[in-house]
Amino acid sequence: MIIGSISENKNIEKRVSITPEISKKYISNGFKVKIEKGIADHLGIKDEEFTKEGCDLDTKENILKDSDLLLQMNLPSDENLEKVKDKKILIGNFNLKDNQNIIDKYKNKVSIFSLEKLPRITRAQSMDILSSQANLAGYKAVVDSFSLFKKAIPMMMTAAGTIPAAKVLVVGAGVAGLQAIATAKRMGAIVFATDVRLASKEQVESLGGKFLVVEGAENLETEGGYAKEASEDFKKKQEDLILETLKKIDVVICTALIPGKKAPKIINEQMIENMQPGSVIYDLAASQGGNAAYTKTDETVEKNGVMIVGESVILNKLPVSASNLYAKNLFNFVLNLYDKKNNKIDINMEDEIISNTLVK
Ligand code: NAI
Repeated sequence: MIIGSISENKNIEKRVSITPEISKKYISNGFKVKIEKGIADHLGIKDEEFTKEGCDLDTKENILKDSDLLLQMNLPSDENLEKVKDKKILIGNFNLKDNQNIIDKYKNKVSIFSLEKLPRITRAQSMDILSSQANLAGYKAVVDSFSLFKKAIPMMMTAAGTIPAAKVLVVGAGVAGLQAIATAKRMGAIVFATDVRLASKEQVESLGGKFLVVEGAENLETEGGYAKEASEDFKKKQEDLILETLKKIDVVICTALIPGKKAPKIINEQMIENMQPGSVIYDLAASQGGNAAYTKTDETVEKNGVMIVGESVILNKLPVSASNLYAKNLFNFVLNLYDKKNNKIDINMEDEIISNTLVK
C-alpha cells in the first residue's frame, strides 16, 4: 500500500503533511512512502532525510497516479485531483465550506477525508488537527504580540526603578486561548480571560488566569463542547465588563469562534478608543471576520495608537512544529483506517471518526 504526498503551494502554505520521523512509522507499519522531490526543503528538511528512512522520491504525476492514500494539508488543485485514480483515498484539512464545488466534483471518485470534521471525542484526540494547530497558534499569537508591544512583559524590580507586569486579556478560552494564557503567564504577564462557556472558568484559573465572570450568565455551551451564540443581554453585560477591563489591558489576544458562524464581535470601537496607546490587539479570528472592530485579515491597522493585527496564517510562522503535529495527527488517523492483518483500508462507517470525516 502506497502513501504519497505532493508539495503544497509553498507561497501560501509552509506546512507539510509528512515528516521523516512519521514516514519511518508508516514504513514500519508496512506502507511504502513516496514524496515529491523537495517537498520540505523550505523547512530545512532535505530529501535525504526522507530517503534515509526508506521513502522514495518521485514526480508529482506519479505520486498522484500511484498513491493509495494521498496525504495533504490543503485540497489539491482541480488539475491535480484529475490525476488521482478512482477509489483512492485523499486525507487532509480541506476547508469544506470554501471548497464545496471542487469537492463535489471528485467525492464519488475518490474517498475524501477532511479532518476538521473529526468528532471531539477522547479516542480522536491524537488525530485532532484543530487542537494541535490551535494550540500552536495560541502560543505564537502571544510571542508575536509581545514582540510588537513596546514595553517589557514581566515585572522587573531594578535599581533604576520598577517595571510593572504587562496585562493581557484573552478573549475565548478554547484550545488556542488556553495556550495563550499559559504562554503569557509563563512570560510573566498578568492574564485575564473571558468565555461564554462556564467550564472554561476552572481551566483559566488552573493556568493562573483571572476569569471575567459575566454576572448571571447562563452557560452557552453546546453538547459538543462548542460555544452557542450569546443573547443580546449577555452581549451587553460582557461589553460593559470588557469595556472597563480594557482600560488597563496592554495586549489582547482574540480567539473567540462559533462553529459555522461569523466570529462574534467583542471588542468594539469605543473599547479601542478607551485603551492605552501602545496596546496591541492580536486577532486570531481574523479570517472569520475578527473579534475586534477594525480587524483586517493579514494587515495591521492602527487606531488611536492601538495596533490591531489580523492574523490568518499564523501557522506558517512555526511550520516545522505545526507540520510535526499535523503529520502525527494524520498518522494516527491512517492507522485507525488501516486493517493491518488484511493489508487494506477499512472504511467502517460504524466508526464515527471515519463516518464524520468522510465527505459525503
Ligand atoms: P473554538 O475555536 O470554536 O472557539 C474558541 C473559544 O471561543 C471557545 O472556547 C468558545 O467558547 C469561545 N467563544 C465563542 N464565542 C464567544 C464570546 N462571545 N465571548 C467569549 N468567548 C467566546 O473552540 P475550540 O478551541 O476548538 O474548543 C471548543 C471546545 O472543544 C472546548 O470545550 C474544548 O475543551 C473542546 N475540545 C475537546 C476535545 C476532545 O477531544 N474532547 C479536543 C479539543 C477541544
